[in-house]
Order: sequence, then structure tokens, then C-alpha cells
Amino acid sequence: MQDLQSIQDEALALFSTIEQPAALEDAKARYLGKSGILTERLRALGQLPVEQRKLLGAQINGTKQALEQALVQRREQLAQDQMTRELRAQALDVTLPGRGVLRGGLHPVTLTLQRIEALFRSVGFDVTDGPEIETDAYNFTALNIPDDHPARAMHDTFYLDPAHVLRTHTSPMQVRYLQAHALPVKVIVPGRVYRCDSDMTHTPMFHQVEGLWVDETVTFSALKGLLVDFMRCFFEQDSLKARFRSSFFPFTEPSAEMDIGCVICQGQGCRVCSHTGWLEVLGCGMVHPNVFTPLGIDSERHVGLAFGLGVERLAMLRYGVNDLRLFFDNDLNFLRQFATR
Ligand code: DAH
Repeated sequence: MQDLQSIQDEALALFSTIEQPAALEDAKARYLGKSGILTERLRALGQLPVEQRKLLGAQINGTKQALEQALVQRREQLAQDQMTRELRAQALDVTLPGRGVLRGGLHPVTLTLQRIEALFRSVGFDVTDGPEIETDAYNFTALNIPDDHPARAMHDTFYLDPAHVLRTHTSPMQVRYLQAHALPVKVIVPGRVYRCDSDMTHTPMFHQVEGLWVDETVTFSALKGLLVDFMRCFFEQDSLKARFRSSFFPFTEPSAEMDIGCVICQGQGCRVCSHTGWLEVLGCGMVHPNVFTPLGIDSERHVGLAFGLGVERLAMLRYGVNDLRLFFDNDLNFLRQFATR
């Protein structure tokens, strides 16, 4: 029989050369497993006389313990080696420059809306919003546009059903706001509007800002002053030229359209202003008695000024964008240019 000491030496030597945890467990089985060398020895003890059995049994157990201890140590060593290898493989160079965080930014239409709101708030206007699904009655009839009125044809309306539309303008909020608030009122209503129209200069959805100021002392010259001041502040051009052309809207009388001197060519004439030097920027007027009367407002006593402007148009002019559709393409190369403005 191989003596215990040489078994132990051989086992310990073997353990220390093993590099894989699974191989270590195999080696363990060879000595301590069910039919391992030491297990067999213990089993064989039964055939020995008592005295020898005791003595040899103690020796075998001593060897077993030595092997188990060596196994524990080797296992730990292997686990540690493994950990060291992994840490080395995943080493981070903390001195490398960071990847950088891409900053988002607000959409140019949002920036423009915020600018318009801030300017009107600064002269005392409230800001509110209204429903994009509107009844035919609010979108048209209440604004003095009866069923057979030709102005309905101008609006290219999306009908949801015979009684409901996607609002074609923010003007119905004039009526809703007057129904819900006591006079005087001074409010702007920014929001989305919809028209069944799509080309270089039209998108089926765009943004308007409606303005309404009703009081006893409001005048047409107040309307002009307000809008000229607004445009000068909006474009940061103190001597921006402006003119009002008489026009027609069913819900205002008199009605006007406002032009400003072209902010691209300073009135010299360019593609954007069709070589006229002027840009049409909004519609406006004094609220028509046919709008006031059904609301119980006495148009002998109260006067209203109203205006409606297109937000994308102002954004295009302010940022020098030449195609309306760029606002809705979600092209990051376009949008990133506004990230810090
Ligand atoms: N609602 C008109 C449109 O979408 C714009 C407009 C014109 C609004 C005159 C007004 C106004 O408040 O007074 O074409």
C-alpha cells in the first residue's frame, strides 16, 4: 500500500498545479469522493484489528483534513486569480476624456411660442388654450360665418362629423373666452390649428396665436400700436416698418392685414418677400357686433380688438428658415441648430 504521506504529497502537488475549478473538483473526487483513494482506505479499516484500526483511522483522517484544507486554499486562490483576470480585462482608463452628453433643445416653434407669450404677458395679456376638436358652431357660426358663407370655403376644413371639425383657426377661443370670463378681458390663445392643405408654404397642422382685448376704451389705434410694438420687439428691430391694409374677416369690422418691412432684405426686395419689400404677418380688426350680441355684450359700450398670427411664419422669418416643412421633418441636423438659442 502506498503510504499516507506520499498520497498526501502527491495530492497537494497535484492540487497546486490545477488551474480550473472544475478540474480541482475532479481531483478532489479522486481522493475524497465515493470511491476515492482515501475513502477506500477508510472502508478497508473494517478488516483490521481494533488497535490498528484506531491508529490508522486517525492517520487517514489527518490526511483527509490536510487535503480538504489544501482544497479550500486552492479554491480561494483560483477564485482570486479569476477575479484578478476579470478586473484586468475590464480595466477602465479613468484619464480618458468623457463621451460627452448630447444636449436636447426646444423646437424652434416652441421657442417662438415662448417668445410671443413672454412679450404679450409683459403688456398684461393672460395666456390660455382651447380645444383642437371644435364644434362647427364655435369654429364658424359664432364668428359670424353662417352655413352658406363663402368664407367657409377658404378654410379647407377637416370635418370629423357634420357637427365637429379640427379647428381651422384659434378665433373660436374668442367666443369661448368671452363666455367664461367677465369683462374686461385681455388674452392671447396659442395653439394648433388644422387645414386640409399641404405644399411648400402650407402644412395640414400649424400654430396660431389669437389675441383678444375687450374693454370700454379699446381703439383701433391701440390695436395698431400694440402690434407694431410687438413686431419690433419680436424681431429686435426698433425701426421696423409696418403698414395695415384693409381686408375682410367676417368676425371683425373693420378688418386689416398687417405687413412688416421684409426682415430678410430690409425692404430691398428678395425671394422671401416676392420682391415687394413687405411681408404679410397677421390678420386683425375690431370685434364685429354680430360676435358680441349673441354673447350679451353691448357693442355700444364695449369695444374689442382681435388679431391672429401664424407662428411658423414668424419662426421662419426670425430664424431665416426657407421651407416650412423643415419644422415638421424631425431632422436632427436642422433641430440641433436651435439647441442653445
Ligand atoms: N382667424 C383668422 C385666420 O385664421 C385670422 C384672424 C384674422 C384672427 C382677424 C383674428 C382677426 O382675430 O381679428 O385666417
